[in-house]
Amino acid sequence: MRRISRSMSISLQLTRHSVMTVYHLVKNAGNEARQKLLSMPLISVLFNLLSCFDEPFKFELGLPISSIIMKSSQSLHQDECGSMSGAHLTHTSSPQSMILSTNKMSISNQNWFFESVKANQFVSTSLYEETDEKVDGWYFEVVIHTKGIMQIGWANEECHFNARKGIGVGDTSNSCGFDGTRCKVWSGPSVDVAMENDYGLSWQIGDILSVLLSWSGVVSFWLNGKDLGAALKNVDTSKHWYPAASLSIDQQCSFIFEESQMKYSPNSEFAKHYKGRWAVVTGASEGIGRGYAIQLAARNMNVFLISRNVVKLQKVQQEIFRLYGNKVKTICYPLDMTKLSDSSVYDALKSKLDELDVGILVNNVGLFFKRMQFFLTVPRETHDGIINLNMSALTTFICGAG
Ligand SMILES: NC(=O)c1ccc[n+]([C@@H]2O[C@H](COP(=O)([O-])OP(=O)(O)OC[C@H]3O[C@@H](n4cnc5c(N)ncnc54)[C@H](OP(=O)(O)O)[C@@H]3O)[C@@H](O)[C@H]2O)c1
Repeated sequence: MRRISRSMSISLQLTRHSVMTVYHLVKNAGNEARQKLLSMPLISVLFNLLSCFDEPFKFELGLPISSIIMKSSQSLHQDECGSMSGAHLTHTSSPQSMILSTNKMSISNQNWFFESVKANQFVSTSLYEETDEKVDGWYFEVVIHTKGIMQIGWANEECHFNARKGIGVGDTSNSCGFDGTRCKVWSGPSVDVAMENDYGLSWQIGDILSVLLSWSGVVSFWLNGKDLGAALKNVDTSKHWYPAASLSIDQQCSFIFEESQMKYSPNSEFAKHYKGRWAVVTGASEGIGRGYAIQLAARNMNVFLISRNVVKLQKVQQEIFRLYGNKVKTICYPLDMTKLSDSSVYDALKSKLDELDVGILVNNVGLFFKRMQFFLTVPRETHDGIINLNMSALTTFICGAG
């Protein structure tokens, strides 16, 4: 969440109260009166303004406005058949009390009841013909915006939620839900709370939960790329399974169904595209090199880290492990790149790299004057060092020591 100043916070509260008042006025009005209210210029201006706010800001305000914005902008999203295109979330209860963002990918529960949403589209092995190429499974990601009770996972068409009775995702055998607040997984009444349903790791705000239903009927979760293991086996994948979530009061999260927006997509084409699982990054312990190393790890590349200082390298290695767990491998290789002209140093590095399937080289290492200086006041050795590292070492690394 963004930080906001006190005066900003007071004006947000005031805005929130005015919008709440308008909302209740519109919500409790009959159909005809509601249409009239929505056609009033002031209200439409207010909604247009609100729709310009970004998602975190809207959620910070806790504005219950999205459903009204949806009503006024629905025609924009409809396809030719009158239905919404693309995968998104839909309400599972009536009245629709969970707040859906305008793009229908984020949810916020402002009610006392255990409200649920599910996707508008399902997955199922029944969708495939015998001759079709089988998928390995179905995957989506969820960004955790709050740290309270939420049960996130899958629910099939026979799963019936009941917000008032607290029945949500995982509370019936037709669903499976993980809650990273209590670190438990549920799949219906058959899983007794006293039984072994401890599972996974505690989630924090900003964490990414990955949710997978494999073709073979195993539901698994990952937290920030760290594999939490199989949560449920023998799921009947010929049924229709919907991504779904149930939230207690004041909880918020966002779903990602679009692969290009995912952080940990198992289908990453990156390594395949570069024809190698390993990326070599020189000058990887700091600055741009460190940034490259982390970003490549985020794209499922294993990273070979080179710089002089092993302690700094190990810090980067630990950071990658904290972010992506065992999903990517890293190797620290402390080396002064200016020594590459020594063939024994070069050969040792080469034989290490020959063992790996290298697809990417980020030949980033380099240095420059520590401060602005007149050229002629810089000692000749400093110039030599810069030329040696920035030009000779890089060229030697690519072309070989000989
Ligand atoms: N930052 C900029 O604005 C900028 C602009 C244009 C170009 N560049 C170029 O981009 C590259 C990275 O810049 P940066 O700002 O990220 O640099 P940086 O923060 O100073 O990092 C340099 C990295 O290179 C390593 N290194 C230095 N000398 C080495 C040596 N002899 N052998 C092996 N590793 C060595 C350092 O780690 P150790 O100390 O552990 O060896 C460190 O990891 C450089 O080539 C730089 O010239 C940067």
